[in-house]
Amino acid sequence: MSDLSDGLSGKDLIAQGAGITYDDFIILPGHIDFHHQEVTLEGRFSRRIPLSLPFASSPMDTVTEHKMAIGLACLGGIGVVHYNNAVEAQAEEVRKVKRFENGFITDPVVLSPQATIADVDAIKARYGFSGIPITEDGARHGRLVGVVTNRDIEFEPDRTKRLADVMVTDLVTGRAGMKLEEAHELLRTSKKGKLPLVDGEGRLVSLVSRRDLLKRRNFPDTNKDPRGRLRVAAAVSTRDEDRERVAALAEAGVDAIVIDAAQGDSIYELRLLEWMKGNYPQVDVVGGNVVTRAQAARLLDAGADGLRIGMGPGSICTTQGTMAVGRAQATAVYQTALVARARGVPVMADGGVSQIGHIAKALALGSSCVMMGYMFAGTEESPGDYFYEGGVRLKRYRGMASLEAMAAGGDKRYQTRADDRRVKVAQGVSGAVLDKGPLNDYVPYLVQGLKQSLQDMGVRGVGALHAALEDGALRFEMRSLAAQVEGGVHGLHSYKESSLGMRSG
Ligand code: IMP
Repeated sequence: MSDLSDGLSGKDLIAQGAGITYDDFIILPGHIDFHHQEVTLEGRFSRRIPLSLPFASSPMDTVTEHKMAIGLACLGGIGVVHYNNAVEAQAEEVRKVKRFENGFITDPVVLSPQATIADVDAIKARYGFSGIPITEDGARHGRLVGVVTNRDIEFEPDRTKRLADVMVTDLVTGRAGMKLEEAHELLRTSKKGKLPLVDGEGRLVSLVSRRDLLKRRNFPDTNKDPRGRLRVAAAVSTRDEDRERVAALAEAGVDAIVIDAAQGDSIYELRLLEWMKGNYPQVDVVGGNVVTRAQAARLLDAGADGLRIGMGPGSICTTQGTMAVGRAQATAVYQTALVARARGVPVMADGGVSQIGHIAKALALGSSCVMMGYMFAGTEESPGDYFYEGGVRLKRYRGMASLEAMAAGGDKRYQTRADDRRVKVAQGVSGAVLDKGPLNDYVPYLVQGLKQSLQDMGVRGVGALHAALEDGALRFEMRSLAAQVEGGVHGLHSYKESSLGMRSG
């Protein structure tokens, strides 16, 4: 047979008519002439923000605060800090990321000399450590007067005793600004577990822990700004009052601002976008959410440096059912990426990812990075405490338009004007997800899977993938319902799902 071209190009796949989701299609294998470790995953978040890992975390109050943003930036991705909080609280989250230095704990848990051993016990139960700096007034950056470690309190029967009576006051300290290697050396020679770093007036600045140093990893792909600080993004609503938020975030050093609206093609968003580009040209602005070519074009005309794509695919989302408006995510990504690519602007597929293959498909349809809520909820770095239900370790995960999150202020994304707030229509649910462990264990697993996926497609990176999409070399096929059943686990009497709560098939 002479015609060996098989399947459909991306263009023909989408042109078939009905809107399609990630599960509706499959990508045909290409030719492999390289090892999967040669695959690179470099993507782009916005015009001026490259990513060595094309992952962004959702601006949701159960997903992204500084811990998630730090963890993801260290691995090459980026976190988008949510805004279901006061302006100053959000700006402080951004500052924590910008201040972060691998190895230094800049917001250590501290106690005052008047606190008791029972307070240390409570911290140990909650965080798992008991080496605690004691400051004069119990303030995080107060004057350092002592340190309490496990060995000072473990045999003390009276847990009501004040820390003033048990703390070590003969301290080994480092000076603020010292290099991690020097701190390491001081820890080694002093044989201490914790090294507090203080400024010229004896105030606590940060802490270095021996245990952290032992397990410290080098992060070769860290996402850094030109000054060597971690990159971070933050979200704002389209409301006029959020201009103050934009100013505070820019002042805190945020790299990009995501305008967070479920329907991003509004005069409110366009006005804000133009105002931001005029007043804060150093900050990249990601517009959204959009799902059609015309919506994308309007935000691009207004100067968007990136687009966030998706209306309704989120795991916690009920928008499409409630509003009757939205679009199937695979079609939305393809159509908007087509318009944005022509202008050199990246798009980010947002929502609906519950397995590695979905990430691969989003990239294959033209997305330059993938935003995920569900995939990062339940990791150690997501906000909230773990709890148990039926013997399973869980964390809360909720839509920002769930009644619960809206009651806490999260309705700004869904109701454009402040005076709309009297009647709330939920567009999301609140639930729980399985414990996914620390990002440092979980993300390498996603990376490995994604590299193998691109290898199967026969491409060495996201750029090559987009080129293959454009020239039609990348081939797709629709999956019938029976094909989807065939592609998932079937016919077994019983089996175990991935322990990370990811779907198979
Ligand atoms: P997931 O990764 O499938 O869980 O989707 C996360 C995405 O859902 C977020 O990045 C938002 O775009 C979107 N989202 C967040 N909260 C809500 C909600 O309450 N209703 C609808 N969509 C939401």
